[in-house]
Amino acid sequence: MTDLFSPLRLGAIELANRVVMSPLTRCRAGTGNVPTDLMAEYYRQRASAGLIITEATPVCPEGHGYPRTPGIYTAEQISGWKKITQAVHAAGGRIVIQLWHVGRISHPDLQPNGVLPVAPSALRPAGQVFTGQEMKDFVTPRALESSEIPGLIASYAQAARNAMAAGFDGVEVHAGNGYLLDQFLRSSSNQRTDAYGGSKENRARLLLEVLDGVCAAIGSERVGVRLSPVTPFNDLHDEHPQETFEYVTAQLNRFSLAFLDLLQGMGGAPKEQWIPFDYERLRVLYTGKLIRNNGYDFASAQEAITTGAADAIAFGRLLLANPDLVERFRRGAPLNAPDYEKLYTGEEKGYTDYPFLAG
Ligand SMILES: Cc1cc2nc3c(=O)[nH]c(=O)nc-3n(C[C@H](O)[C@H](O)[C@H](O)COP(=O)(O)O)c2cc1C
Repeated sequence: MTDLFSPLRLGAIELANRVVMSPLTRCRAGTGNVPTDLMAEYYRQRASAGLIITEATPVCPEGHGYPRTPGIYTAEQISGWKKITQAVHAAGGRIVIQLWHVGRISHPDLQPNGVLPVAPSALRPAGQVFTGQEMKDFVTPRALESSEIPGLIASYAQAARNAMAAGFDGVEVHAGNGYLLDQFLRSSSNQRTDAYGGSKENRARLLLEVLDGVCAAIGSERVGVRLSPVTPFNDLHDEHPQETFEYVTAQLNRFSLAFLDLLQGMGGAPKEQWIPFDYERLRVLYTGKLIRNNGYDFASAQEAITTGAADAIAFGRLLLANPDLVERFRRGAPLNAPDYEKLYTGEEKGYTDYPFLAG
């Protein structure tokens, strides 16, 4: 019987089991947003997961919206990541990098030369951003010119090439959680009147062109994508999420991607409060491998795999606090609880010091 411990092939990537580490921003990069040795230790500890998806990683300097997030656009960053991919591979794991651009979820204090962040439209998101010193209100971003889009796509493609140079098994294009590609997909943040706004076909165009560029750069069998159709995170919503995301999902089929990583529901909100969405429809529409995420535990993950509802399950908080989650699942062992005070701060504390099972 196929279960959570069964091997799986995602495109060109062979996984030893179906436990995937969900991308987790931890804000511990070094000077120049270079990945550190401590980060290598953190990822190495979690290499028994079938696949690690790294923390979100900006593809260009303008893609940053949080302090100390590692990039993948300088030679030093590529060298830093190389140590991480080597550590994970030496421990028998597989690792892909999540390619990120935050769009309007940034601030001039975090932008090169203090410029305005970019977005599909000049619409200020509600909320605040941590600039490294203090919390500040989001600003009204600058709408990207149509003429800037090819350069943006080229940044994603170059970042994917850099990821290959750094030894990654592949990339995940982050098109969820209210960041740039999601800002284009969803109607509340995209009021463009050019070929990249308006209809769902137009709103999906940038993501599909980015995927074209990234697949041409490294091969579609090493490319995955993350979608989060109804999460309100970062002040986004869509008027007709079911229609938008059924269209997007159907379009993904033509790429033969390694996987679709589907973040269901709305962050930590209880299931009863989720905006209604028919995820089973996407399972039927999508012809490739599906990773599901959000709120899974061992029992619900096993059920999703054994019933065929998913091919793999991504775990965020559980893998954050349990580096040996696969072994704990196997033994039915108790789980460490995450230290929420140390998610984005604390260096090794609440990062590389979660205990492993004895023996
Ligand atoms: C500390 C923290 C950081 C996160 N960073 C990212 C990120 O960089 N990229 C992303 O797509 N999702 C991010 N997420 C969302 C997780 O990948 C995941 O979707 C969420 O935790 C739900 O899964 P879980 O219930 O297994 O924890 C983050 C979540 C947490 C708790």
